[in-house]
Amino acid sequence: MSEVSPPSYENIRVQVEENVGIVFLNRPTALNALSTALMGELLDALLKFQSDEKIGCIIITGGDRIFSAGADIKEMANWTTSEAVKSNPLSRFDELRKITKPLIAAVSGYALGGGLELALACDMIIAADDARLGQPEINIGVFPGAGGTQRLTRAVGKYKAMEMILTGNPITAKEALALGLVTRIVPGELYLEEAKQLAHEIVMKSPLALSLVKQCVLGADETSLSEGVEFERRNFYLMMSSEDKQEGMKAFLEKRQPSYKGK
Ligand code: CAA
Repeated sequence: MSEVSPPSYENIRVQVEENVGIVFLNRPTALNALSTALMGELLDALLKFQSDEKIGCIIITGGDRIFSAGADIKEMANWTTSEAVKSNPLSRFDELRKITKPLIAAVSGYALGGGLELALACDMIIAADDARLGQPEINIGVFPGAGGTQRLTRAVGKYKAMEMILTGNPITAKEALALGLVTRIVPGELYLEEAKQLAHEIVMKSPLALSLVKQCVLGADETSLSEGVEFERRNFYLMMSSEDKQEGMKAFLEKRQPSYKGK
């Protein structure tokens, strides 16, 4: 494992473990609130992992007690309508779509507000069994603004999303699992280990196939069924002349493990 955080990162830590990049949100005194500075560093680190050919999968995590308490309320308290509209700070969350490599959120403790929205923008969520997930913005006179009304509703359906967003009450990891809001729950101390195991399993696959199929699955929320199926098929055909497809099928027929190059 190597620590690769440049000294300029003050709100996150970054590690590389073989082919897996890990970003630790690291603002413990503010419960990992997603300040402008933290979001800038997070996106910078993610884009560096995105352009690093050695990295096949990325984990975003916090600490054992807190994933993130959401957008920085101390910053947001000073926002005016015109400044917010002009500088559009929450559009930073859209930049996560530039990451075509699989993104895993490893959540322990609270994932609230923008913290849950960050996890929802990832592709899979591994949660400690003591995690609490919620959209409490209604308690401070606003509502989710970083995708929660859309992604949470798509994940759990209208009726549960409405309850969570209108009451602000968090749900337990067990409830989240039953709702399909998280991928897996594990005993508290194992959440990061479980996320790493999942990431190490994924990085063995074809990087090209991972990137294309991620776009296909994300497309399911944004297209009609027939358009989505067409998009999937075109992407499937795109794989046909790839080296990874040749290698995967050849390895199967030769009864050996494939070795992919992402080409
Ligand atoms: N922003 C800025 N600072 C925060 C914060 C946040 N979202 N959440 C906690 N903090 C700070 C607290 O102000 C406190 O700082 P001080 O020591 O300087 O007073 C410190 O973190 C510790 O917090 P608490 O004392 O409140 O810790 P606790 O253990 O008693 O409670 C908590 C934990 C339940 C998570 C509670 O801190 C809390 O409810 N936080 C706010 C959660 C929230 O409302 N999130 C939504 C933010 S808005 C948003 O995210 C909008 C969007 O959609 C983009």
